[in-house]
Amino acid sequence: MEKYLIAKDTWVLSQVFPVPLATNINANSMIIAGKEPVIVDTGPSVTRDDWLRTAWSIVDPGAVRWVFLSHDDGDHIGNLLPVLEACPNAKVLTGSFAMGRMRLDHGIELPPLRVRWVNDGDSFEAGDRALLAVRPPVFDAPTTRGLFDASTGVYWAGDAFGCMVPRHLDDIAGVPEDERWDAFYKVNRMISPWHRWLDSGRYNAHIDSLQALGIEAIATCHGPAIRSSLVDEVLTRIRELPSLPALDEPGQGDLDQLIEMVMGQHAAAANGAEPAARGAAEPAAA
Ligand SMILES: [Fe+2]
Ligand SMILES: [Fe+2]
Repeated sequence: MEKYLIAKDTWVLSQVFPVPLATNINANSMIIAGKEPVIVDTGPSVTRDDWLRTAWSIVDPGAVRWVFLSHDDGDHIGNLLPVLEACPNAKVLTGSFAMGRMRLDHGIELPPLRVRWVNDGDSFEAGDRALLAVRPPVFDAPTTRGLFDASTGVYWAGDAFGCMVPRHLDDIAGVPEDERWDAFYKVNRMISPWHRWLDSGRYNAHIDSLQALGIEAIATCHGPAIRSSLVDEVLTRIRELPSLPALDEPGQGDLDQLIEMVMGQHAAAANGAEPAARGAAEPAAA
């Protein structure tokens, strides 16, 4: 787990997971350590101890006032219950549909007194700043809303604007340019297989309204931070999704290759050989 600043008092908790047949993907969260601290998504449960340790190195859990959930997927609510236990003064900012889905999908029953419903377009005060919920252009859950902080210009985009990465990076500029946009389009098409059916005019109008907010930096769950001129570039590039073909997803042939590779590694380990370095023996992403 790494942490880095994307703006004043605004931290990204960054972790990277390997993707079979591809490179790596982030599962990030964010913390706004302002007058009324806001935890923005709570990460996946698989790295709970590390996530909690990193979060409490940024903010005192007793001071946390808000936990904003971009949506209810497991990699965003994985540590919600331990966070609520550690933060008795925090309320969850979410919506009614997300609450229902958390109840059915995860057995999470949020006490209504610890919840405030925030829908797309709603704003709320968090001490020294006003925060605005704004739905990102693409998403993989109908409950999704992003979060814009006008005091810093940071937009938390949920799953949108992700990009696969060769390793931990704190800026998308660190992804080599010849790989960056292919990796960017891969993630953004993966989370929105409906991108081919979008009406370009209406989709672009939504991105126009997002761009009009004056976003200065984008933090995303599934990629490094996006800053300076690359903010405009990703807001331009994401407009191409309606005209792009469907993502060519890995098929059974790729899985056969993966199984062969894993079995080869097990056989090598059984014979006492060093396992092959990651990436050396793995097939390229489909
Ligand atoms: Fe998601
Ligand atoms: Fe996600």
